[in-house]
Amino acid sequence: MIGIFDSGTGGMSVYREIRKVLPRERYVYFSDNAHCPYGDKTAEYVRDRGREITRFLLGKGADVIVIACNTATAAAVSALRAEFPDTPFIGMEPAVKPAALGTKTGVIGVLATAGTLKGSKYLTTRGKYADNVRIVEAVGRGFVELVEAGKLDGPETEAVVDRSLRPLLDAGADTVVLGCTHYPFLAGVIGRLAGPEVRVIDPAPSVARHLADVMTQRNLIRCDAASERDIELVSSGDPAPLERIYRMINEEKI
Ligand code: DGL
Repeated sequence: MIGIFDSGTGGMSVYREIRKVLPRERYVYFSDNAHCPYGDKTAEYVRDRGREITRFLLGKGADVIVIACNTATAAAVSALRAEFPDTPFIGMEPAVKPAALGTKTGVIGVLATAGTLKGSKYLTTRGKYADNVRIVEAVGRGFVELVEAGKLDGPETEAVVDRSLRPLLDAGADTVVLGCTHYPFLAGVIGRLAGPEVRVIDPAPSVARHLADVMTQRNLIRCDAASERDIELVSSGDPAPLERIYRMINEEKI
């Protein structure tokens, strides 16, 4: 069983890709929306949440855990791997490498939470590419709240997104990295504001492929060919946002 968690519904943008490559698995998804957003909390707080959620997911029978949250990965993945050595953890990281390799203007934009942008993992990756490309960053202020409220489009959403995205575009970025799993649900608005010349990168498809590789290596793929995908949705707060996003994914509205 695959355990997935995020501060809220954002990790469903990762689940959406995972289920394409692992269509027959069993899933349990934990939305920690009673403690959302993680982005401005201390690393210690997010680590404690990660520990508690990991215990919960293992109790449910998860044999691999996807930290479908860049902020939680930055704060907790090393500690969780050390504390739960028998469990494989798959984390998220802003996709700076493909952006740096593909840019033509030499400027890439990274949209992420404050927690992710100050994490040592991100800073190391950034340092590797900063000699060759200019990396401009912005916190997607209000993005997580919009997604949790189901406001994925419309004038209000456009105005909020524009505020954080505009400085990246003005700096000449031709590539925008979505460094928070909530942001792909705003990709329609982001793409419209940025225009067709700008490439928007969501790392979820490559994370899904990586998960499938890890599960294959460890013999964790469900081998009963007749089995159907199923998922348990768990929220620490109001269950409605997660159920709404799940419904929209199933109806292919997002
Ligand atoms: N979805 C999360 C991430 O990828 C966390 C957003 C938040 O809670 O601030 O960073």
